[in-house]
Amino acid sequence: MGQQEPEDLLELSPDTRTILEEEGLRPLWEVEDDFGTVIDDLEADIWKWDDIQRAIDAVEDDVPIAELPPGFQRRVAVPINTAIGNAISNTIYVGVQTVSPGETAPSHRHSANALRFTIDGAEEMKTVVAGEEFPMHDNDLVTTPQWEWHDHVNDSDQTCTWLDILDLPLFLDSLNRSQAFENHELERQPVVKSQGYWDSQYGRARPVETTDDDSIPGPFSGIRDPTPPYRFQWTDVEETLHQRAANDDPDRHDGYNLAYVNPESGTPPLFPTMSFRAQLLSEGATDSHFHNATEIYFVIDGEGATHVDDDVLEWNERDLFVVPPDAVHHHDPDGEATLLCLSDRPVFEAFNFYAEAEPSS
Ligand SMILES: [Fe+2]
Ligand SMILES: [Fe+2]
Repeated sequence: MGQQEPEDLLELSPDTRTILEEEGLRPLWEVEDDFGTVIDDLEADIWKWDDIQRAIDAVEDDVPIAELPPGFQRRVAVPINTAIGNAISNTIYVGVQTVSPGETAPSHRHSANALRFTIDGAEEMKTVVAGEEFPMHDNDLVTTPQWEWHDHVNDSDQTCTWLDILDLPLFLDSLNRSQAFENHELERQPVVKSQGYWDSQYGRARPVETTDDDSIPGPFSGIRDPTPPYRFQWTDVEETLHQRAANDDPDRHDGYNLAYVNPESGTPPLFPTMSFRAQLLSEGATDSHFHNATEIYFVIDGEGATHVDDDVLEWNERDLFVVPPDAVHHHDPDGEATLLCLSDRPVFEAFNFYAEAEPSS
């Protein structure tokens, strides 16, 4: 008699299998192999800025925003992680948007959390959010909160470019829900607030009056306290980074490391689904670590490499790269470099699932 394999011991009798099939149930030991296979694993990947620039220039030459089909009128090229095929990661979407001089990306609103990180900006390039015009200078970060009207108006004399960063894949793919979306009846929403209004509401002195109900109207009456409209000016962030570098010790894994906070609470994360950090790497290679959250990096300036498991991603200014979950990684800048890091870590932390460690040497 041959030795019994473990799966033989678990084999159901034909009668039991028939009963389970008839009643629409399966045994756990057969189901568990299927867990985690619906969405493909993310892989390390990098998009060089020269290649992105070539792509967005071609799309800009080809497609005026006004000729895009009615609906989601945004001229965007989307970096695709070939391991998953529809976005840069399984949780966070990044697109590269251009608006030519004189063009407007029309006003709309949606349930996804979103922000813009400016690459080529100008004083007269405005993202209009919640009735206020926010100028977009290089490396400024402008939030466009859930269910808040936003349009992009380029009154400058140059093409402006930025990263759109949204939590779409988390909602559309991982939770398999569609997002609510609405176009404004006007191409440009009315500008009803003076410039600086929203920033001024979240300073050290704040309005006294409060309301009992901060919920969003319309289909999102269940969502409360969306992240406010806000512009993080790069000049402020850069100054803080350099103050830290002049006075403090860097984080071993991420260098001098600032979190963008929710302007209302004053604490990170900026959105419940996505966190954002500015990182100054100026003290040589960082130590390796790994974590179950995904990290997406945009190189604000400098050059260097990030080692991700057996891959070496060599980056220059404006490149975009992905560090997948559980990959051992460290950064190795050539001199000084500044990175923007986006992560889905808040989703893990919200449910007490976040885990981080150093590899055993
Ligand atoms: Fe949008
Ligand atoms: Fe990391």
